[in-house]
Amino acid sequence: MSSTSAINPKGPSVSEAGKGATAWADTYLNTTVGQKVLVALTGSGLVGFVLFHMIGNLKLFSGPESINAYANFLKHDLGALIWIARAGLLGIFALHLTLALRLKYQTNAARPIGYYYQRSAQANPASKTMLQTGLVIGAFVIFHLAHYTFALVHDVTALDGSTVNYLTLRDAKGHHDVYTMLIAGFSTWWISAIYLIANVLLFVHLSHGIPSVFQTLGLVNRRFTQVVKMIGYGIAGTVLIGNLAIVLAIWTGAVK
Ligand code: HEM
Repeated sequence: MSSTSAINPKGPSVSEAGKGATAWADTYLNTTVGQKVLVALTGSGLVGFVLFHMIGNLKLFSGPESINAYANFLKHDLGALIWIARAGLLGIFALHLTLALRLKYQTNAARPIGYYYQRSAQANPASKTMLQTGLVIGAFVIFHLAHYTFALVHDVTALDGSTVNYLTLRDAKGHHDVYTMLIAGFSTWWISAIYLIANVLLFVHLSHGIPSVFQTLGLVNRRFTQVVKMIGYGIAGTVLIGNLAIVLAIWTGAVK
């Protein structure tokens, strides 16, 4: 008996449907529109993360107990969920970066000489530097993980002059003392300066990236262009103000 037939009277089998879906994804991901939609969707996920992360970090202003308990909840009480979230975040980040680089490469390959006249009607410094600001933010995230997650960059100096690794800091409840770790980090001028610059670039990236999501997903028409721009500045500005408030409050000694 032949295992395949030209016409399947029962319609596509599960494996045929699976192959169809893979073929569709392959074709779709090779189109500019498909890649742009994925850059927009992954970018939206990353915006959600930075907003959530900023709001969580503001617990610094409620004191050591509050932020330490919050960090302990995320790292220990959530169990496997935190690893699922971390893996998801890493996947989204990798996809966003890879597709953005691929789109840029394809655009350059299709137009090696470039336009004589810049498309200046819509272009502005933020839109023209999306790749550059994105790459610097990516480099910052690697620095940031080395700094606070893996504690490889900087130690806390104790009163007797000895140095203590960030990850060994404990509060009275035995929780990781994230509060003291943040104070140590942002009391150091060059660390604060790196965070200030990275967060300003994040603002520039998001202020163009967020309106672009609406455009790519076809959620905007001429009447709403200004509204969508304001949404972009609103979200990007909120993240900037929240993050800078933390850095500056510690750097200036307002929070110690
Ligand atoms: C002033 C601003 C920021 C502060 C105070 C801050 C603080 C922290 C701290 C304390 C951790 C480690 C938590 C722990 O392991 O206990 C962390 C992790 C992390 N931060 Fe930030 N962060 C800031 C800005 C950012 C920005 C702008 C991004 C992304 C663009 C970012 C991305 C991450 C990521 C991906 C992690 C790892 C999350 C995980 O391990 O699950 N952070 N941040």
